[in-house]
Amino acid sequence: MATTQTPVSHVWPLGTVLDPEGVLQLGGCDARELAREFGTPAYVVAEDDLRTRARRFLAAFAERTDDFEVHFASKSFPATAVLRLFAEEGLACDVASGGELHLALNAGFDPAKVHLHGNAKSEAELQMALDARIGDIVVDNLDELEALQRLIPVGRRQRILLRIAPGVSPDTHHHISTGGPNTKFGFNPADAQVAIARAQASDKLDLDGLHFHIGSQILDLEPFRAALEVVAALGDFHTYNMGGGLGVAYTHEQSAPAIDDYVSRKVDLLREIVGPGKRIADEPGRALVAHSTVTLYTVQSVKHNVATWVAVDGGMSDNLRPMLYDARYEAMVVGRPNAGGTVAHLAGKHCESSDVLIHDVDLPDPRPGDVIAVPVTGAYGHAMANNYNGQPRPPIVFVSNGNARAVVRRETYEDLTRRDLDA
Ligand SMILES: Cc1ncc(COP(=O)(O)O)c(C=O)c1O
Repeated sequence: MATTQTPVSHVWPLGTVLDPEGVLQLGGCDARELAREFGTPAYVVAEDDLRTRARRFLAAFAERTDDFEVHFASKSFPATAVLRLFAEEGLACDVASGGELHLALNAGFDPAKVHLHGNAKSEAELQMALDARIGDIVVDNLDELEALQRLIPVGRRQRILLRIAPGVSPDTHHHISTGGPNTKFGFNPADAQVAIARAQASDKLDLDGLHFHIGSQILDLEPFRAALEVVAALGDFHTYNMGGGLGVAYTHEQSAPAIDDYVSRKVDLLREIVGPGKRIADEPGRALVAHSTVTLYTVQSVKHNVATWVAVDGGMSDNLRPMLYDARYEAMVVGRPNAGGTVAHLAGKHCESSDVLIHDVDLPDPRPGDVIAVPVTGAYGHAMANNYNGQPRPPIVFVSNGNARAVVRRETYEDLTRRDLDA
């Protein structure tokens, strides 16, 4: 029998190993014990993975420029403990709604380091941002520009960026492409000219710069050049926010650009296309959080039809991505790590045929009671979790140095009726 720990592929959280018996160890904790202690499904988050990736982003920018800001795109993992950790690490925060703004402020972000996005901000949300005195409001459209000027009290000024839709579509799923010519997000270049003129004429707005975000899960960095060229043609500003979007590997055969390569490409492009002395802002979500998290499930049944169906105790209520955009994942039977056994469909428990987490995945000899680990679930997993079929949402468990602590408890059935009012 092997006596040493075995490393796992790059998709698992940093520091993950298999123990000499082949049992998955996350942040120094035995995955089977985590399943026993916290139940399943559960999001297990390697705290050190989050910190390491935040530091990689900051170091990559600091090596190349002294005027930069890294905003955590909080939509990707809007949990207080995650937000608090990134605030501690010195990141700024991108919020896209009043709710995300509430979470960011509650988690301790300096309001001056928060900026607000959204293509349909309500007046209440704009007012909330003004009251909190956040750093930037990223204005999306002419109606919002007008509303904002109405809401800002006389004698006060608000810093803004304008979100530009540069008409560039990266090679990603069309549901997560956001900067093309017919997107709901931002100003097309013609409207941007109008917005720039109005913002510059306003005695209430400080137009600090331009923003674009062309999409998510971007693996080829080339489209950033074309997008920046369009944006640069709109004028000379102090700040350029090139959005987030860095993709990650979801399965062991995939690879993604390193954080350092992504940052250096963006910094170089800004210098080349716009010129020196500019502030660069970035707002990664997925690349900061995706790899940190593994979802643990328990197998409930194994069925042999035309294919083998392995059904677990979660599904589209804890991970909507496979159903929303055909996202591909891999899985491990904890304690039986070697693939090459049974090819099966890993199905969820919900009343939808589309509730399949992974089609055609290798699961050696799956049996009821097995703990299944699915890596790379940190981004847009908890964020999009829901109560379909009355399913309580999973807990979030932080692991580090052999210690595990729940930072969000599992929902209860009582939580499902907590908002009911007496008739
Ligand atoms: C404006 C904006 N910024 C940042 C992000 C984060 O993107 P990602 O998680 O791909 O880095 C998104 C995601 O949709 C976004 O819409």
